[in-house]
Amino acid sequence: MSVAKPLPHDAARLHVKGQARYVDDMPMPKGALHLAFGLSPKASGHITAMDLQAVHNAPDVVAVLTASDLPFANDVSPSAHDEPLLATGEVHYMGQPVFMVIARSHLAARFAARQGKIEIAETTPIFSIEDALAADSRFEDGPRIYQRGDTQTGLGGAKHRLSGRFHIGGQEHFYLEGQAALALPGEAGDMHVISSTQHPTEIQHKVADAIGLPMHAVRVETRRMGGGFGGKESQGNALAVACAVAARQTGKPCKMRYDRDDDMIITGKRHDFRIDYDVGFDGAGRITALDVHHYTRCGWAMDLSLPVADRAMLHADNAYWLPHVRIESHRLRTNTQSATAFRGFGGPQGMIGMERIVDHVAAHLGLDPLIVRQRNFYAAVGDISSQEKVQTTPYGQPVEDFVLDRMVDQLVLSSDYQTRRRAVADWNATNPVLKKGIALSPVKFGISFTLTHLNQAGALVHVYADGSIHLNHGGTEMGQGLFQKVAQVAASRFGVPLEMVKITATDTAKVPNTSATAASSGTDLNGMAVKAACDTIRARMADHLAKLHQCRPDQVVFDDGQVTAGTRTYSFAEVAAMAHQARISLSSTGFYKTPDIEWDRIKGHGRPFFYFAYGAAVTEVVIDTLTGENRILRADILHDAGASLNPALDLGQVEGGYVQGAGWLTTEELVWDDHGHLRTHAPSTYKIPACSDRPDVFNVALWEGENRADTIYKSKAVGEPPLMLGISAFLALSDAVAACGPHYPDLHAPATAEAVLAAIHRARG
Ligand code: MTE
Ligand code: MOS
Repeated sequence: MSVAKPLPHDAARLHVKGQARYVDDMPMPKGALHLAFGLSPKASGHITAMDLQAVHNAPDVVAVLTASDLPFANDVSPSAHDEPLLATGEVHYMGQPVFMVIARSHLAARFAARQGKIEIAETTPIFSIEDALAADSRFEDGPRIYQRGDTQTGLGGAKHRLSGRFHIGGQEHFYLEGQAALALPGEAGDMHVISSTQHPTEIQHKVADAIGLPMHAVRVETRRMGGGFGGKESQGNALAVACAVAARQTGKPCKMRYDRDDDMIITGKRHDFRIDYDVGFDGAGRITALDVHHYTRCGWAMDLSLPVADRAMLHADNAYWLPHVRIESHRLRTNTQSATAFRGFGGPQGMIGMERIVDHVAAHLGLDPLIVRQRNFYAAVGDISSQEKVQTTPYGQPVEDFVLDRMVDQLVLSSDYQTRRRAVADWNATNPVLKKGIALSPVKFGISFTLTHLNQAGALVHVYADGSIHLNHGGTEMGQGLFQKVAQVAASRFGVPLEMVKITATDTAKVPNTSATAASSGTDLNGMAVKAACDTIRARMADHLAKLHQCRPDQVVFDDGQVTAGTRTYSFAEVAAMAHQARISLSSTGFYKTPDIEWDRIKGHGRPFFYFAYGAAVTEVVIDTLTGENRILRADILHDAGASLNPALDLGQVEGGYVQGAGWLTTEELVWDDHGHLRTHAPSTYKIPACSDRPDVFNVALWEGENRADTIYKSKAVGEPPLMLGISAFLALSDAVAACGPHYPDLHAPATAEAVLAAIHRARG
């Protein structure tokens, strides 16, 4: 069996040798053209005049297009049709594409794009959450509210009560490969698009609308992305559509890639949040009532903000049973980049809000936050206390698979938490300058798209007459190892070595109507679809052999590259050839839809998730109280990937997720100036974690257990959940700040050195 083996990523060798092909590495046909956008110089207002003469006259320019030159739909929105490819009269953020240049080289296009003069009658921009609230600038009529019980009475009757406010910054995706697309015009208007996208079907749909043809005229291919992280769910639409429009107009292949600055200035990022809370609890730290308000900065267009804000609400409980709870969510419209999907899709913001609340409760009572966490955990299935009733989330989903209590017990032991917590306290008692902190935080993350119809997938598998296998499915590869894991599934179904399986690019002409590879569900969905396709072909082969050898089809065994029927053993290749001779189809599609989910997002009630993925992390940090500089000293992680399909890849996801989460909450800071210009638009000013920032001691393990839900080989989704393990790094920094003075740390995310230093001063009071 190929599943459960720690095999390397299928393209690992190509990645490290620089031989893996990305969009910009494709050999370009002769005469290919290059695109760049001219951007709005203001954050909000009406375009009163545009002088593009200098753009036209710039070297190697072939054409310049504005909104009025677009032949059909001017729309790249994934949701509300509120996002034109090129601005129409109004501009909504500094960096919004207003015109596009088609030129003979990438540099010529970029140079020309800067020669445009756009005059704008400015209107008062709305930048901050507070600005948006004051102007009542939002995407839904009012806040969305999910609730259970009677929160006001619960709060009123609580023994203790606290309120607070917490700010959470956004995050730039910083995929190593920037956004890119290439459009190759075919005959009779057909368009072949190669795109760095998590969502080829949406690119196909948007391109078809933009060139006025049905989807059948557009084929989109994606072999891989150099990272997506949610930033390529919708943000690639603009480039692909621009290339297709330009290719249609010029008859030439057209390519567009954003330089890093443009990428950061144009595209959306993680949503920043403000979270206000009012919590009631008893003397043991058990939370009895919670009223929490999410203020979500969505930027100028709707994009995916509603489901992102929903998912934040769905993770406002994290791992804790909340008897009386009310969650209010405001989706605010601002004149900034349109915030978009980012690993965790709002879940991380909701979750850190709750973790912050639990920390506050613990500090108020003078308890170890770990104890308060454990006291508030959902009841474990099989607990005596839970025999009567499985506890439900605030949105009514029963928590039937809770394992965090046991996972945390194991992690407390393996990380030596108790001894190290005492050592940290001893250190802090004797060291005036360097202070240490330690924290454990749990993760409970819901798996499935909350938009129920997206939970489906298709696959296409061919077995050739020589026994080699061609594998295709709707999922996209962005470094997470999806293709490798799904290939392991295919090899296992046929009982052949992995080398027999050819992984091929995602292609809308092979598998139609796919969902984005997102919500961590790539393997769950596509693994099952591929299994179905393989099993169809295998059953046809087995039927044929069973007839030949007078046995039952279920007695035909596919294993180790061989097929045994009765007393005969063939190689898989022999069976493929025999089946072909016997005129048996060796090609099949496969389809899967996730069972047991239903969700009413307006009422906020139902069973949106097929199951939950769990994890826990302990992080220890040290801070320099003179400068606020800080380091992660050690991280210990236990993560639940169910029965892992590939422990090597899953560990990679866990390590990478933790580091990316810690980066979000510590060094990664987005700064806009008073005019709405993003000042941190390059790695010189925007600090993602480097190799040297990973913890010196980094113990990562997978929890031994299988998924209770019936997923592919009982594995669990692992793409997003580990990002939220990074929350423990933030909590550890807060713990270190708490050692500096009597006040509960007024520390917000990101906890940059500057923010830590300021919080130390406030803690001292
Ligand atoms: N891992 C790598 N290396 N690169 C990525 O871009 N994206 C993350 C996660 N892990 C990402 C990654 C996000 S946002 C998601 S939703 C999942 O992978 C998507 O893939 P999956 O569904 O196959 O897990
Ligand atoms: Mo991931 S944010 O669901 O692409």
